[in-house]
Amino acid sequence: MPRDVLKRITELKEKISDADYKYYVTAEPDLDDQTYDMLMKELEKLEKENPQYASPDSPTRRVSGEPTKKFSVVIHSVPMLSLANSYNFDDLSDFDKRVQSLLNGQKYEYVCELKFDGLAVSLTYENGAFTRGATRGDGIKGDNVTNNLKTIKSIPLSINSDVYKNFEVRGEVFIKKDDFLSINSGQSNRGGKLFLNARNTAAGTMKLKDSRVVASRPLNIFVYSMRSAELFNEAKLNSHFENLTILKELKFPVNGFSRIAGTIDEVKNFCDEIEEIRDTLLYEIDGVVIKVNSLSQQESIGNSAKSPRWAIAYKFKAKEKTTRLNSITLQVGRTGIITPVAELEPVFLAGSTISRATLHNFDEIRRKDIRVGDFVKIEKGGDVIPKILEVLLDKRQNNSVPFPEPELCPVCGEKTDKPEGEANIYCPNYFCTAQIQGRIEHFVRRDAMDIEGLGTSIVEILLQKGFIKDFTDLYNLKNRREDLIILERFGTKSVENILSAIESSKDKPFEKVLFAIGIKHIGERTAKLIANHFGSIDKLSTAAADEIDDIYEIGPAIAESLFKFFRDEKGKKLIEKLRASGLKFEISKSGSVSENENFKGKIFVLTGTLGKYTRTEAGEIIEKLGGRVSASVSKKTDYILAGEEAGSKLDKARKLGVKIISETDFEKLL
Ligand code: IVH
Repeated sequence: MPRDVLKRITELKEKISDADYKYYVTAEPDLDDQTYDMLMKELEKLEKENPQYASPDSPTRRVSGEPTKKFSVVIHSVPMLSLANSYNFDDLSDFDKRVQSLLNGQKYEYVCELKFDGLAVSLTYENGAFTRGATRGDGIKGDNVTNNLKTIKSIPLSINSDVYKNFEVRGEVFIKKDDFLSINSGQSNRGGKLFLNARNTAAGTMKLKDSRVVASRPLNIFVYSMRSAELFNEAKLNSHFENLTILKELKFPVNGFSRIAGTIDEVKNFCDEIEEIRDTLLYEIDGVVIKVNSLSQQESIGNSAKSPRWAIAYKFKAKEKTTRLNSITLQVGRTGIITPVAELEPVFLAGSTISRATLHNFDEIRRKDIRVGDFVKIEKGGDVIPKILEVLLDKRQNNSVPFPEPELCPVCGEKTDKPEGEANIYCPNYFCTAQIQGRIEHFVRRDAMDIEGLGTSIVEILLQKGFIKDFTDLYNLKNRREDLIILERFGTKSVENILSAIESSKDKPFEKVLFAIGIKHIGERTAKLIANHFGSIDKLSTAAADEIDDIYEIGPAIAESLFKFFRDEKGKKLIEKLRASGLKFEISKSGSVSENENFKGKIFVLTGTLGKYTRTEAGEIIEKLGGRVSASVSKKTDYILAGEEAGSKLDKARKLGVKIISETDFEKLL
């Protein structure tokens, strides 16, 4: 009896994988949905009753029950490199000449493939089973997203072969154009946030922690490489094109357009042909990839640090379209910068509908002479934000007028300001509601005070109804609990959540508070450097501008901005109010990770090139251990850490008698 059960389970698994293959890979489905569901249910039932026969490669395990808390890290066995880009046929000829000379007169051929616009992943098979899937990450290490990848039904969970058992496959995960559109219309019906394009949706989906949600998104994959040291050594893998054929035989989804090209001219023809049919494809591509076919030749040609020398990407020109500029709206940001935004007649371009484009600033509008009512050529390149390339002057209407620079803030009506040498126009009114709103939204951001529940519309209501005037008032909201609960769009539960998020934000470390306040030029990293350097707001607020400027990596603009902020009455008041609310204005005593007596309070100057660390890394270590890094040598300097080719700072240190240490001495101090 148990034998029969095992036999039936094996049979069901095979039937289901075969149906998946026919449905998702060859697009020739042979089972109707009902039969498929019945087989699946039967398998689930048998596995439940006979857990000894349930295996990880079963199709019932494509969706795992529990969400992952955090992806583990996967170190790629061989780095996942990127490709060098080329944009025209001359670049391709140059590439071919390099290949020719690197191969010293040997004969060679290329394989041309489509360049899919998605995200690269690696799939590991051990003993014929799919055991691990990872994102490319930084090329060296990626996220372990095995559970998410298992939901892609075209990825075989097990391989039926005596020869090909242990290998790694790489490919591109993507979402088809029409699937992307229906995901977005679903989002829009639910009032959810729209995705920018198919690639972003695929990448975002791969980052989700709950594979049940991933399974609900129609992800696809094309695989484009196969690697196995053992198979290569046994001469079972010889050429890239053969690998693609093997992958196809092993039932992986391999794109059908790949072709061998004997000469670079054939490569160019392929590029032309593909660019021609690009729009008819069901998925997005952004070019063609050209690879030397022979694996041993690939090996002898080798790689540069970032990309193989035996392959190149030929990128299609960014897609362009013409549309009408209906109006220009003005947005006022938290620092008062007024940004013009183009409101366009919606057009579909490279996978998404575009109805807005940033115009950056008024210099840009003048330079391109962009006027309301103009027909403009817009481009969407590799980046997601569309750009206005040019105005079609022959289509301009006679009565059009240049767009005037705003003399008054569009929100508060204050006279605007254009500082010398800056392209930006500002609303100088610190109390302009747009700026206040922007500052509050910045303050509550996840990477700042991380106060959940205060989205744009909620903040708007709180401001309108007079509950808050700026972000410092958030900490008094707890006294108005009852008044809040009766507001429209609020309820007991959401008010409790918001108030408790506000309370917990008081635990945020000094560096986050410093970033959240939103002082001009103070980004997240700068805030961290400054917080660690000064240790407290009292030391920072009384520091001289050149003392701030002296910090390694801090420039004069930042120093001046900080200096001004702390001398301004508004700045002082704001800090005092937040301090009274109980926010952290000094780094916690145990907070600077693990202080080290050799470093605590010591001032270091870095010069020359170090072997093991970049200067930034060394600086971070010093600051973490309680030391400080200064940009220039003075009598106050305790150590100068000198690497190779140290310059004038070293001479100055000698003159002043500052202790000079090498990288080895530095490590001893550590
Ligand atoms: S080969 C070392 N083949 O392009 C060779 N990559 O810029 C790199 N890509 O990270 C991979 N289609 O995400 C290769 N047919 C194809 C590709 C392809 C798209 C992506 C892949 C890679 C990026 C490199």
